Amino acid sequence: MNRRVTKAIFPVAGLGTRFLPATKSIPKEIMTLVDRPLIQYAIDEARAAGIKEFIFVTSRGKGALEDYFDHSPILEDSLRSKGKTDLLETLENTNMESGAIAYIRQHKALGLGHAVWCARRLIASDEPFAVILPDDVIAGDKPCLQQMVEAYEESGGCMVAAMEVPPSAASSYGILDVENDFGSMVSVRGMVEKPEPGKAPSELAVIGRYILAPSVLENLSRLGSGAGGEIQLTDAIAAEIRAGRDVFGYRFRGQRFDCGSKAGFLQATVAFGLAREELRDEFAAYLREMTSLPHAAQ
Ligand code: UTP
Repeated sequence: MNRRVTKAIFPVAGLGTRFLPATKSIPKEIMTLVDRPLIQYAIDEARAAGIKEFIFVTSRGKGALEDYFDHSPILEDSLRSKGKTDLLETLENTNMESGAIAYIRQHKALGLGHAVWCARRLIASDEPFAVILPDDVIAGDKPCLQQMVEAYEESGGCMVAAMEVPPSAASSYGILDVENDFGSMVSVRGMVEKPEPGKAPSELAVIGRYILAPSVLENLSRLGSGAGGEIQLTDAIAAEIRAGRDVFGYRFRGQRFDCGSKAGFLQATVAFGLAREELRDEFAAYLREMTSLPHAAQ
């Protein structure tokens, strides 16, 4: 099996109900951390990992996402003529090569596994591929997917990004049943999607970065719906283990924000705002003031 990962699937067809009413007309992935939409963070991470082809699984109402990746010649000309070179560079860095992006439609929100399966015809039978959930934004010195691609070149198999969560949070995640713990990598003997309280096999949760073998797409073709009535990607990866193939969890280095939830999105806004040199002092002073006791009591 080839171990070069050059394609990534971005499942962005979910309804984003936790952000209603905003998501009535704005795709969740266009929501902005400081000044960049969530999808831009995901694309930048994919590019850093060597991804060349970007497959978006979209749905009705996600037009703004497609528009976002169009070049904007009028805006670029205007910035150029005004000598706003910094902004021009920012804009040009978001431009994608023609033909590098494909859009596939998921006609019904039947779950993450189903969304990934919708892209099956764009992945060759000997081709590993990445899956990135743009809701999970990961800050770190080396982008998470790049760390994983490097580890995957050694390991092969399937690889999921993993992070320790408290037992009380386990029922919100896919949880790994660990066979061997090698430190940054673990080998996995099972996976459980959203285990009932007290039934999680470990504290290692799967978050939204995957490198998968194409056989996972065949597994998805055979799957019925799982937890929550949705077709679960976790179940298709667990089927790899039952077929005797390797699945690894990768403990990435970095901080993950769950931008699919309001609290996570606000935390990410604070973290990314404070990370910006031009905003840091003013923003930190404001936060200090807001969190001081008299204000907090209001
Ligand atoms: P979520 O579980 O966050 O669901 O999906 P959601 O619909 O986006 O948001 P809420 O829960 O209603 O607020 C995780 C990822 O899987 C994609 C989503 O777009 C998101 O990137 N997804 C989920 C699909 O593409 N299709 C689906 O049927 C379900």
